[in-house]
Amino acid sequence: MKKGIYPGSFDPITNGHLDIIHRGSRICDKLIVSVLNNPNKKSLFTVEERVRMIEESVKDYDNVEVDHFSGLLINYAKEQKADAIIKGLRAVSDFEYEFQMALMNKKLAKEVEKVFLMTSNKTSFLSSSLLKEVAKFGGCIEGLLPDRVKEAVYDKLKENEGGR
Ligand code: PNS
Repeated sequence: MKKGIYPGSFDPITNGHLDIIHRGSRICDKLIVSVLNNPNKKSLFTVEERVRMIEESVKDYDNVEVDHFSGLLINYAKEQKADAIIKGLRAVSDFEYEFQMALMNKKLAKEVEKVFLMTSNKTSFLSSSLLKEVAKFGGCIEGLLPDRVKEAVYDKLKENEGGR
């Protein structure tokens, strides 16, 4: 596959995302990891911070680039002349929503294929939201995300607590 796009909120990137990036990079000549800029969704990190953390985490991959986008994913995918949108599927709970989005995106542009990669056993329970909640209430998030990102999560939570 020539060009794939792996979109998401990545607030922040986890080892589950990195697993999909690793496997996506093996089936695409070029993989663009793209952060959705969604002003309506409250996020822990800014888009720039999320892009920087991903860039740092994927710096060893020659064929992975990091970008951000606003608006409809399918329009961005067409602008980028992507062959496919890559998504990770964790469980049955992800399936319904992903299936609905895939069909809508297919209606909007059938030339962009959707490729779903099943998450690995080790990361199938992981989500950025769960991870932030666990960290916020003092649970251990060791080994679930890159160390630098873990530190950034703790710093940001502390910063937010101070601002209250
Ligand atoms: O990491 P997430 O939050 O699960 O990623 C969801 C994302 C960004 C892939 C999805 O919300 C998306 O594609 N948003 C862009 C807006 C859009 O295209 N909406 C119509 C979907 S059919």
